[in-house]
Parts: sequence; structure tokens; C-alpha cells
Amino acid sequence: MTDTALTPSALLAGLPARQGFGDATLIRLAPGAIDLGGGNPAVDLLPLDLYRDAFRAVSEDAGFPALLKYSAAPGLAGLRSAIADREGVVPERVLITNGGAHGLALAALSLLDPGDLIVVDDPVYPLFLRALDLIGVEVAPLAVTSDGIDVDELERRLRAGLRPKALFTVPTFQNPSGVTLSAEKEQALVALAETYGFTIIADDPYREIRFPGVVVPDRHAFRASDRVIGVNTLSKTLGPGLRLGWIVVPEAISERITWLRNRLDGQTSGVVQAVGERMLRDERLDPSISAAAAVYARKAQVLTGALRAEFGDDVEVADPQGGFFAWARLGGGVDYDRVFEDAQDQGVFYQRGEWFAAAGDGFPGFLRLSFSEVGEDDLVEGVARLGKAWRGLIGRG
Ligand SMILES: Cc1ncc(COP(=O)(O)O)c(C=O)c1O
Repeated sequence: MTDTALTPSALLAGLPARQGFGDATLIRLAPGAIDLGGGNPAVDLLPLDLYRDAFRAVSEDAGFPALLKYSAAPGLAGLRSAIADREGVVPERVLITNGGAHGLALAALSLLDPGDLIVVDDPVYPLFLRALDLIGVEVAPLAVTSDGIDVDELERRLRAGLRPKALFTVPTFQNPSGVTLSAEKEQALVALAETYGFTIIADDPYREIRFPGVVVPDRHAFRASDRVIGVNTLSKTLGPGLRLGWIVVPEAISERITWLRNRLDGQTSGVVQAVGERMLRDERLDPSISAAAAVYARKAQVLTGALRAEFGDDVEVADPQGGFFAWARLGGGVDYDRVFEDAQDQGVFYQRGEWFAAAGDGFPGFLRLSFSEVGEDDLVEGVARLGKAWRGLIGRG
């Protein structure tokens, strides 16, 4: 830490700097650069008309002044029940948060103590690891396969004596790999959690961004188990600037987590919650999410098509079925540090595979390429720039 007059807590002094994912010092976006690194939805696909109507209705409602007062820590009853209806759980299990990252921090603080062991997706959503930094836990990576986290391998390790306190996974259109946990694996995972006494943190923000014709498991096993904390957010469907999310918790610990919330920020904005409730109850919302997902599907095709045209046999990439990202692997045995730097010189930014390794430096040659926010022409141009950087290094690896 740099010198300062104040004496920071051990927690603050000990926080590691962000490395890799989310580290702004690594990003060089010159004017005209194409950013394939982001996790934003396309703002032109967000339902701005619903927002306008909801803000107007909320501000003109007789109950509006009361929304400007302090409200209950678990969240407004109307919003909890709108979310409970969508999730298929009782409202008592739903606690409102300021988005997904906040829900993950609450889940981590509710479950884990220093020195505990948590099994996580590998590749993993890296910002969850940053939430774990608040506590100081041990991380055990578990590979993500084509149908989700490797449950057979987990069972082998549990039989061999592994005793985690929790397991973290993004079950649908996983960030970064895009894969979805099958219903069979979901059930097997819950059975293992019940047998070996660990809790699953299931973080599911991309679930609603499913491409036309794609069906995903309804997560019945997760919902039915009191060994699961569900974390979710409206960030991918309504925009991260809204800062509105929720966790679904077992009823038995709902009140205690509320006590924890009371000791932190107390509650989520009542105004934002009321707006969120209006939008969730608006019958135009689901069609607007489906329409956006159809555009994302098209963009995903443009991106993967461009990658295959540019790199041929030197790229491996699955066709995304939902979500915002393609997870690609470049061959060619090149120096991937140089590819990343030269790509930025060419005017394209992406997230490096190494930044998603749950431990160590796995996933060299992998790239997480975001198609959600970028127009089709820029997706093609971005891949062309990447190709230029990569070709310049072939044979120099
Ligand atoms: C897997 C995953 N979890 C959580 C979040 C954070 O959501 P929020 O922006 O609502 O904090 C994201 C956002 O990118 C994500 O990809």
C-alpha cells in the first residue's frame, strides 16, 4: 500500500490488487478500438419504453413519498413476490440485493469462514474470487466440461476426502465458457451437497438470455434444496446500471442474512425496487428479453463465423446457445502475451483466458470474446484485427 496517514484495517491493507480481469491498467482502448471485453447488454436492446413508463408510474403513485423513506432490509414485499413468482419459490426466500456481485458477497459472508475450502468452476467468473478475498478462503478448482462443472470428478474427490464448505458455479451459459449444467448433473450435485454437507452457490445471471429455440433446465433441484443459495441479477436483462438483484436462500437462514444486511448497507433503494417490480410485472418484458436474445444469437453467429473464416483450423469455438460470450481457443503455438498486446495495437481488446483460471495460469490461448454490445460490422472487424495480430506472430512463438 502507498503511504497514508490513516491506518487501514488488515482487511483493507491485505486486499490484493486486481490482476487480469477487471484490471483497467491492462486495457488500452485507443479511439476507434473495438472492445470485445465487456459484460454489458446492448443498451439499444434494453426496454427503454418500459423504464419510462415504470419511472412515471412509480413517481406519480400515491405511495411514492413512502419509497423515499428507509425500507425493510429483505426488500419491498411487492418486488420479492414478483421475483418469487418468476423463481417458483415462496417470497420469504427472496432477499433483494444491489445486483449480482452484492448477492455473491452476501452469500460468501453468510457461508464461509477464513480457511474454509470452496470448490469453484474452472474456468471461473473471476470477480467471485475477488469477493472471496474479503474472507480468505482456500479455492479448489473443478473443471467445467461441455455440460457444466465436472460432477463425477467432484464425487471422486469427495470420496477421497475432499471436504469443501461450499461450491460455486454459474449453471447457465457459464461465464466465460458459455456451457450449461445439465439437469442430471444438477441433481447429482445437490445429492453430493446433501451427502457431504456443503452449500452450492448457483449464480445464474445469463439464464434469461437464451437464444431462440434453446431450452434450459428449470433448476428445480436447486430450488428445492436447502443446500443451495441462488444468486441473480437484472443486470443482463435490464442493465447493470439499475443495480438490482436478489438471492434465494433457505428459509431457515433468511432472517440471519437479513441481520447481516442490516449491519452493512441496510437496504436497496426503495425507488429502484418499485421500478424493478413494475417492469417485472409488465407483460411486455418477456417479449423484449426474447427479442434481445434473438439479436444476441445473430451477433454470436457473426462472431463465431468470422472467427472460423479468419482462423480456420487454428480456432476452436463452440456456438453459444445464450449469454454474452464466445470462449475461443487459438492454436498456432504463438506467444499469447504478444497476441494480446499486438491485438490492442491493432485496435481490439478481449479478455485473456488466463484471467479465468481458478488457480495458477491455465487456459493459455483462450479468449473470452463478448458479442453483446458490439455491432455486427465491428465484430467482423475486431476479428480481422485479431487475425492480423496473430498472423504477425506465427512462426515466432
Ligand atoms: C457470472 C456473473 N455473476 C455476477 C455478475 C455480476 O452481476 P452484477 O453486475 O449485477 O453485479 C456477473 C456480471 O458480469 C456475472 O457474469
